[in-house]
Amino acid sequence: MNLIDEIKKRSVHVDEGIREMLPIKHPEELYKAARYLPDAGGKRLRPAAVILTAEAVGSDLQTVLPAAVAVELVHNFTLMHDDIMDRDDVRRGMPAAHVKWGEPGAILAGDTLYSRAFEIITRMDNDPARIVKCIYILARTCTEICEGQWLDVEFEHKDMVSEKEYIQMVEKKTAVLYGAACKIGALLGGSSLEVADQMYEFGRMIGIAFQIYDDVLDIVTPEETLGKVRGSDIMEGKKTLIAIHALNSGVQLEIFGKGKASRGQLEDAIRQLEESGSIEYARNVALAHIREGKAKLDVLGDSEAKEILLAIADYMIERSY
Ligand code: IPE
Ligand code: IPE
Ligand code: MG
Ligand code: MG
Ligand code: MG
Repeated sequence: MNLIDEIKKRSVHVDEGIREMLPIKHPEELYKAARYLPDAGGKRLRPAAVILTAEAVGSDLQTVLPAAVAVELVHNFTLMHDDIMDRDDVRRGMPAAHVKWGEPGAILAGDTLYSRAFEIITRMDNDPARIVKCIYILARTCTEICEGQWLDVEFEHKDMVSEKEYIQMVEKKTAVLYGAACKIGALLGGSSLEVADQMYEFGRMIGIAFQIYDDVLDIVTPEETLGKVRGSDIMEGKKTLIAIHALNSGVQLEIFGKGKASRGQLEDAIRQLEESGSIEYARNVALAHIREGKAKLDVLGDSEAKEILLAIADYMIERSY
């Protein structure tokens, strides 16, 4: 099985769904700005998770496609606003939305993605009680993402953050959307609440690993591959697990102002993090979360979709971007 091919088979339908469910209409510039990031692609891991959990409980892509689109739109909304907060100018290898459309444009485009996601999921053809449950899950998840993003920004100004605080922060800013994707896919696919709750836990655990490794990629991956600015977290003073481990190991991390660090300074910081074993440490913590997450899939019977979900879990720390 080739994981990338399996995701692609499903994401082509998500791409088409986005064009259909978020058409460009009046005022055209708003909708063009809203479609800018979704049309730029991305790995589509969250909508794939919605579809695969549905398949794994015996349902199919068509049944849950609008929910998969809604989850991807929510993700894109968070990215547009995140790039304003993080003062990042590159996303998916292109100028960030706020560079192209200005901050007011990117805020409104993000808001449009967010609200449109709820319109789409509300109008799905499924059991009304299950739809209401999914709307609740998605809304609750968005609230938690705000909590997580708040903590992420707050931590920039703290000298020290504990590992526990970091895990709580990434759980909220990132992992809950993976949890929601998996639970929504299962519920709309007709699963029991018990199975859906296990799917949530699967998504939450691999989502924590996903963010830990996102922080690793920020340091080790060149911009051409990453499609984002390399070293952004260091320059912004983010308390990543790597930074926390390094600080605990006595590394004196210089926190540079955005855009002020020279390439040499950035490379020095990267070298220090590699030498302190902090990157390897973060990878191991991510791996432990992946193992715990995969065990949650034991409630599922054997299927191809389950195999693909297990492969997605491993992919969290095997990906190159
Ligand atoms: C980036 O997510 C934002 C984080 C939560 C770290 P992805 O790496 O999934 O971004 P795309 O969708 O593939 O561009
Ligand atoms: C993003 O975390 C989390 C959300 C978008 C909610 P990051 O700030 O690390 O994501 P990237 O690296 O900019 O994609
Ligand atoms: Mg960011
Ligand atoms: Mg951020
Ligand atoms: Mg990042």
